[in-house]
Formats: sequence, structure tokens, C-alpha cells
Amino acid sequence: MTETVLSVRDIQKSYGSGSGRFRALKGVSLNLVEGESLAIVGKSGSGKSTLLHLMGLLDIPDEGEILYRGKSLSALTSRAADTLRNQEFGFVFQSFHLDPHSTVAENVSMPLVIGGVKKDRRRRVIEVLDRLGLADRADERTSVLSGGQKQRVAIARAVIAKPRILFADEPTGALDSTNGETVSQLLFDLNKQEGITLVMVTHSPELASTCVRQVVISDGLLLSTSGEGAAR
Ligand SMILES: Nc1ncnc2c1ncn2[C@@H]1O[C@H](COP(=O)(O)OP(=O)(O)OP(=O)(O)O)[C@@H](O)[C@H]1O
Ligand SMILES: [Mg+2]
Repeated sequence: MTETVLSVRDIQKSYGSGSGRFRALKGVSLNLVEGESLAIVGKSGSGKSTLLHLMGLLDIPDEGEILYRGKSLSALTSRAADTLRNQEFGFVFQSFHLDPHSTVAENVSMPLVIGGVKKDRRRRVIEVLDRLGLADRADERTSVLSGGQKQRVAIARAVIAKPRILFADEPTGALDSTNGETVSQLLFDLNKQEGITLVMVTHSPELASTCVRQVVISDGLLLSTSGEGAAR
């Protein structure tokens, strides 16, 4: 059985106001199926990051609705949305978004700190860092790491609280091909081994084709869907 985890219904989003108003999303609908990997592709400025942010509850649509496991999220208070996001979602951003002054371990443990998890915190952090080949860097500041290492720290932080959905915005965009490969392999391992649903924005046709389904965004509209789940 395939279950829809997240539904996006006719969402619209504009930035700015008056004559400077720009319609970034003009009515996008999409179902995300539990355990799948979905690639969002399209030209620069087409609305991919905007869609990812809305799906991940990092921003609110002007129109339309988002449902998580069948429940509309529009009525959620921002605090309830924060809790849901922290418990169920993980994020990997192109520019890492790490705190350079904190250590690797402190950055990775952040979702556990926010979630009030105290038990086994250090052990869990080291365990996930170990999987990513970074356990020996745990107590160094992230500012001294390479781009590929920073991206792995960002992934460790994204998965430490065991999210159900992992949103990744061009996770390999800033990396060379070797590091990019390591990072994408890691994301697909998490998807396959832990059943984490993966939503990824990417400019890489290769990475997109590794996902079971691809959607194309053009000028704020969903152009087409392809891949195994296209008929869903
Ligand atoms: N905070 C903002 N304020 C004003 N305009 C914005 C803002 N964020 C995005 N936009 C505009 O909305 C459009 C869609 O942006 P978005 O970041 O979603 O594109 P994208 O498809 O992710 O592009 P890229 O591939 O370059 O990352 C762009 O024209 C952008 O200029
Ligand atoms: Mg973007």
C-alpha cells in the first residue's frame, strides 16, 4: 500500500507587493507518497525552492492548502507547525546553514536540543556522525571543515531526529563530483534503508533520474510528472 504523506493542493505564493509583486507559484498540486524519492527540477527562478519551503512548512502559501497525513495544516498555530517540522521533517540546504562557531556535534544535536531530547544525546550524535565518516571531527568547529564535510554535517543534523520526510535543496550543488556522489549516495541510503521520504531539488539530471519520480516546474507551474509514480 502506498500512502500519501503530504498533499499540496493548488498552492500559490507571491513575493513583494504592488507593481513589484512576483507570482512565484501559480497553483501547484502534488501528492507525496510515503517512502518515495521525488526530484523537483526546473530552470533557475522557476519556483523550486519556494515549493520546497512551503512543503516543509518553512513558509506559508497565500492560497491553497497543504495536508500532512490527511490533516490540513492551514489551521496550525506557528508553534504547532514548528513542533511538527522539528519532529517529522529534516532539511538540507545548498548553503549548509551551519553555525560556524559551534562544533560539529553541537550543530548536529540542535534538533534534539530543540525537541527537548536529553537522553543519549551525545551517543546518538556520535552514532550518526560515525555513519557519515565524521565521528573524529565531532568537537571541531564547522568553520574548519571542507564543503563536502559541511554538507555531511548538515545531513547528520537533518536526520538525527529521525524525520519522516527529508527535504533537500540542491544538496550536491556546492560540491565537487566525488563529494557530490558521496552525499547523494547517503541520501538514497537513508531513503531505502530507513524509509525516509526524500524530496530533492536538483539541477543534476543524473541525480533527478535516480529518484523514482520527477516533477518539472516552469514559471511557477507544475509542467509534468514522470517516473514510476507518475500515474499516482
Ligand atoms: N524572498 C523573496 N523575495 C522576493 N522574491 C523572491 C523571494 N524568494 C524567491 N523570490 C523570487 O521567486 C522566484 C522563484 O524563486 P525560487 O527561489 O523558488 O526559484 P528556484 O527555482 O529555486 O531557483 P534556483 O534554481 O535559482 O534556486 C524567483 O523569481 C525569485 O526571484
Ligand atoms: Mg532554489
